Amino acid sequence: MALPPGGPGRCGDFPPVSPAVSPDFARPARPLVLGFLASHGGSNLLAILTAIHEGRLPARPGIVVSNNSDAGALEHARRFGVPARHLSSHTHPDPGALDLAILAALEEHGVTLVVLAGYMRKLGPRVLAAYAGRVVNIHPALLPAFGGQGMYGLRVHQAVLAAGVRESGCTVHLVTADYDQGPILAQARVPVRPGDTPETLQARVLEQEHKLYAETLGRIARGELALPEV
Ligand code: GRF
Repeated sequence: MALPPGGPGRCGDFPPVSPAVSPDFARPARPLVLGFLASHGGSNLLAILTAIHEGRLPARPGIVVSNNSDAGALEHARRFGVPARHLSSHTHPDPGALDLAILAALEEHGVTLVVLAGYMRKLGPRVLAAYAGRVVNIHPALLPAFGGQGMYGLRVHQAVLAAGVRESGCTVHLVTADYDQGPILAQARVPVRPGDTPETLQARVLEQEHKLYAETLGRIARGELALPEV
């Protein structure tokens, strides 16, 4: 069978779009609607909601979901008027049902990008499939170092100090089925100082996380950072 001019697929059915005719061609077709998953205090969530509120991040918060009914993240959501939902093994004992409930909540609120903000559970296969390449996370170290299963919270900073490295930082990356293995989108670095404890290093990294996460989402929202295929 002869292929249409321009090669296989739908592109060949239409004349090419000229950038001169459509200067917005490279920008995202739809506004970014963020769906947050968070387990605890939600300081990254707060930084992102603040950036949206202050006009630094052109996106809309669609919903905040937490597996922890007492999460500070749910409080932040309510203060900003963002729908907040507790979905966990308590509300849905069957893991498949929980996966579907989270997916339904994200879709119901029109979420186009899932933002993990200290979410301490593994995403279910249905959410991962529906949002493949559209789930981002922040990790409190310079991946690929100090990542993987069991590397969370103070453990990360303890490992960094034990390794004796001179700098650490944070990484925004796409989420895939394997912990902390998805493509890296952005990193920020901080020095490791003599006398640092896991707590002092964590505080220095967290300050950078708040800036890096909001900035990176802003670059995605403005079409300056294209998400790679996963
Ligand atoms: C952050 O350190 C982040 O890197 C990790 O979980 C922590 C969440 O902190 N994924 P918070 O709840 O945003 O304060």
